[in-house]
Amino acid sequence: MSTSPILVTGGTGTLGGHVVPFLRAAGHEVRVLTRHGRPPADGVEYVTGDLLKGEGLAAALADARTVLHLSGGPKGDDEATRALVRAARASGAHHLIYISVVGADRVPLAWMRTKLESERAIADSGIPFTTLRAAQFHDLALKMVEKMAKLPVLPAPGGLRLQPVDAREVAARLAELTLSAPAGPVPDLTGPKLYDLPALVHPYRQLLGHRNRPTLPVRIPGKAGRAYRAGANLTLEGAERGKRTWEEFLAERLG
Ligand SMILES: NC(=O)c1ccc[n+]([C@@H]2O[C@H](COP(=O)([O-])OP(=O)(O)OC[C@H]3O[C@@H](n4cnc5c(N)ncnc54)[C@H](OP(=O)(O)O)[C@@H]3O)[C@@H](O)[C@H]2O)c1
Repeated sequence: MSTSPILVTGGTGTLGGHVVPFLRAAGHEVRVLTRHGRPPADGVEYVTGDLLKGEGLAAALADARTVLHLSGGPKGDDEATRALVRAARASGAHHLIYISVVGADRVPLAWMRTKLESERAIADSGIPFTTLRAAQFHDLALKMVEKMAKLPVLPAPGGLRLQPVDAREVAARLAELTLSAPAGPVPDLTGPKLYDLPALVHPYRQLLGHRNRPTLPVRIPGKAGRAYRAGANLTLEGAERGKRTWEEFLAERLG
């Protein structure tokens, strides 16, 4: 097996927590960039650094030919990605793999824009790359549903639909892409089914034995609302579909 470690940014996050064991199981050394350093464990080395502060990048990239970029936050992903790209060019990285989000080029929200700008920074880097857009992870949908289920009435934004996907399946696909030749933009990965918000909340309430609450139709305002109603956050054709449903995820997580 290769002695060059694979650098994973965001290796401590939800997605990273699934990807890193896949890479280890395939026999690869893994190095994780994190703002909160920790001792090596299970064959994973942790390098302290911060993409937004530009700290620790040279050390994280040293000898790493393959870079899987998963770190992300509510703000500044474009800036963080540009910093990573600059450092990866300087270190001579051979393959950059990036996780973006379905609708990055179609939903007019500031956060989506940072994902699109990140995709562009990667594609323009001159480094061979692979970019995968994924739909919303079940874990994030669960956080949203937990908040919604506490309200006395359930807001039902007309026309909003989601295709939640399992983070483990996204991780498996990313591990496969990381260990393959650079492929550029690859088909989107979504969950197997479409849900509106009440359809996401219903099985959650059933599993927890909560009584149903009345729904309140609401309208998401502005351009973003129009984009969501038009399905700009969905990939209905040409996507790869995960197998694990929202109901299966909930049963395992809450059961
Ligand atoms: N969640 C979704 O539904 C979804 C859907 C499609 C795509 N994505 C994308 O998938 C990626 C992973 O999402 P996730 O839900 O796994 O994220 P997460 O659980 O919130 O984890 C975020 C990760 O980013 C790292 N990070 C944040 N700011 C950083 C910085 N300034 N410098 C270095 N590392 C930093 C964190 O590392 P430390 O805290 O250890 O520093 C952590 O490992 C993100 O790029 C996200 O945009 C997410």
